[in-house]
Amino acid sequence: MDKAAFSGFYKKSIAERQEIVAKEFMLTDAEKAMLTKEGPLPFSVADRMIENVVGTMPLAYGLATNFVIDGKDYIIPFALEEPSVVAAASNAAKLSSGFTTSADEPIMIGLIQVVKCPNATDSLIKILSKKNELLEEIMKIDPILVKFGGGPRDIKGEVLKTSRGEMISLQLLVDVRDAMGSNAINTMAEKISPIIEQISGGEVRLKIISNLAIHRKARAKTTWTKESLVASMGPETKMAGEEIVERILDAYEYAVATVFRTATHNKGIMNGIDALTIATGNDFRGVEAGAHSFAAYGHEYQSLTKYYKDENGNLVGEIEMPMVLATIGGTMKSNPMAQLSLKILGVKTSNELSRIGASVGLAQNFAALRALATTGIQAGHMKLHAKSLAAQAGARENEVDLVAQKMIEAKSFNQLKAEEILKEIRAVK
Ligand code: MEV
Repeated sequence: MDKAAFSGFYKKSIAERQEIVAKEFMLTDAEKAMLTKEGPLPFSVADRMIENVVGTMPLAYGLATNFVIDGKDYIIPFALEEPSVVAAASNAAKLSSGFTTSADEPIMIGLIQVVKCPNATDSLIKILSKKNELLEEIMKIDPILVKFGGGPRDIKGEVLKTSRGEMISLQLLVDVRDAMGSNAINTMAEKISPIIEQISGGEVRLKIISNLAIHRKARAKTTWTKESLVASMGPETKMAGEEIVERILDAYEYAVATVFRTATHNKGIMNGIDALTIATGNDFRGVEAGAHSFAAYGHEYQSLTKYYKDENGNLVGEIEMPMVLATIGGTMKSNPMAQLSLKILGVKTSNELSRIGASVGLAQNFAALRALATTGIQAGHMKLHAKSLAAQAGARENEVDLVAQKMIEAKSFNQLKAEEILKEIRAVK
């Protein structure tokens, strides 16, 4: 590869860049065809989304079923690469009594860092005494947002004592309606900064949204009855519903007790939430940052879900976490798959989408805990993995299931085994 071939790469067209890639990395015809094949995200759109575009990267797009949220049926698009996640969420939703949810107003926080104040505490008092005037000024910055019922709501602040001296951290609270809000908030924070400098006598440095969206949380709650838990285990199970509930509660307590388990517990929650976030064209890094910082907000890193028994001994699950899922703004409008997802979901507002996100997170977490606390996670995972190995070994459509089944029976999951079984099957035919 000649590094010089990539000089001025950003100035080239996508076709020119693809040619360079093909030449410099000696792509085969098949690889070049793969790179140049346009998918649902048109190259022209991708080229405006990020820089130096040479192609698009697909993910599997599947639909989670059986969700009833606040009495309404939903089919939920997931975009991800991991087997079993869609099946697990659909199954958890089917076993549940349906989700009841709520979500906050879409208030996001814009941070403004002020340094070098003559006296940080006095400067903060001065800024906060002018709060109403400042809010009025900020209101003028985004009249469209205000027209749609959003806009600045409050200004808070604190003096931070740091190793580089005192600094002020202002929090600008803005109702961003159905958007994620970073553009609106960053613009407001930047434009109001000269006035903040005048009032404070200090210097404004960082002006940026906070992903710790504590004012924009969503919640979901549901019950899994002992009966549904037994039914979920299949006819051969010897476990009673009470035992399954106890096992899940032990699994939950494990996540409460050690951060090594909490990390993976919360990762499982994010499996579903990220998949929905990506499918709807939302900022999954922002949602992730919000989730994990909230899990550690004011206490040690904790589970985002909670489980307990109700008076009948059934399992109740709850989730509460920041959920910044927009239905407008960003690149959502130009991404046809994101638009398709919103159509399948039938949602128009960020509030509704956030409540769906919370339900998905809870369902996903329950499914993982149930599997881990009973049969183990690999049984389900391995079914799909075996199918994928069978296909890679060259099994045809009508052979895949049989090869996978035989791998499961043999409890052996590798490419060689798949090829060996395929040979045996074909020999018998
Ligand atoms: C795997 O992607 C997710 C799980 O590890 C979650 C968990 O352990 O709770 C199964």
